Amino acid sequence: ETVYLNDKFVAADQAQVSVFDRGFLFGDSVYEVIPFYQGQGFRLDEHLARLEHSLRGIQISIARDWKAILTELVAKNGGGNLSVYLQISRGSSGQRSHAYDEQMQPTVFACCNPIRDIYDEGPDSIAGISAIVTADLRWHRCDIKATGLLPNILVMQQARQAGATEALMIRDGLLTEGASCNLFMVDKGVIYTPKRSSEILGGTTRELILELAAVNGIPTQEVDIDYDHLMNADEVWISSSTRAVVPVIKIDDQLIADGKKGPLWARMFELFTRYQRD
Ligand code: PDD
Repeated sequence: ETVYLNDKFVAADQAQVSVFDRGFLFGDSVYEVIPFYQGQGFRLDEHLARLEHSLRGIQISIARDWKAILTELVAKNGGGNLSVYLQISRGSSGQRSHAYDEQMQPTVFACCNPIRDIYDEGPDSIAGISAIVTADLRWHRCDIKATGLLPNILVMQQARQAGATEALMIRDGLLTEGASCNLFMVDKGVIYTPKRSSEILGGTTRELILELAAVNGIPTQEVDIDYDHLMNADEVWISSSTRAVVPVIKIDDQLIADGKKGPLWARMFELFTRYQRD
């Protein structure tokens, strides 16, 4: 396995980072997860735009030809279907201190993980999942894709302990998103999703769902969603780069509608499949 570390491609077991790296000590770092199918980045420009947003949000300035670097990394790992993890931390000053020197050299790390080509496998390969709803314990800049994921990890573990796959989070009575995904629901043919704000990540897959719905005449609304609205939905979905769009068929041990994958989900999956193939 080849990884990318600070402008070099190296074997994973040779890659080393300082114990004083601020990513390690403070979670002073941002990241992206980008799927590549047949060696090509999926919505790569959108991911890189969000990366710039995250970097600006924590005042790290770094310029690289990310597209060339990541495409080369994928090729070095055999191409095919891989998700790329890219992390940029503020770097290390050889000691632990909250304040940082603005001239610090960022640490750049990227690696690949195999992913399924769900579009190739088709809709029957995707099972509906169950979720819990739990308190959103995160900070108020969730639009920044930061690596400090402790709240996300804790709610995900809470979901697993309850026998569920995903944790949906609620803040001030309103659903925000999942531990590592955005949230959608369908009610009488309309697709609803929480508004973009600093309380949620602007998901690239979320954006694609809204785009494909618009092009295909499916009505969408970005609105506040409360628990009752969610539980009485005709369909609930989650979305992320690694999972595309997945139906949620049970929440807090209650079935959503008839507990089956919904027709609008099947339509959206079909639209994703066609989009991915062009
Ligand atoms: N997570 N919201 C959160 C909190 C996320 O962590 C993610 C993605 C999303 C969906 O964003 P996108 O559609 O651009 O993948 C929403 C990645 C996959 C992860 O942390 O592994």
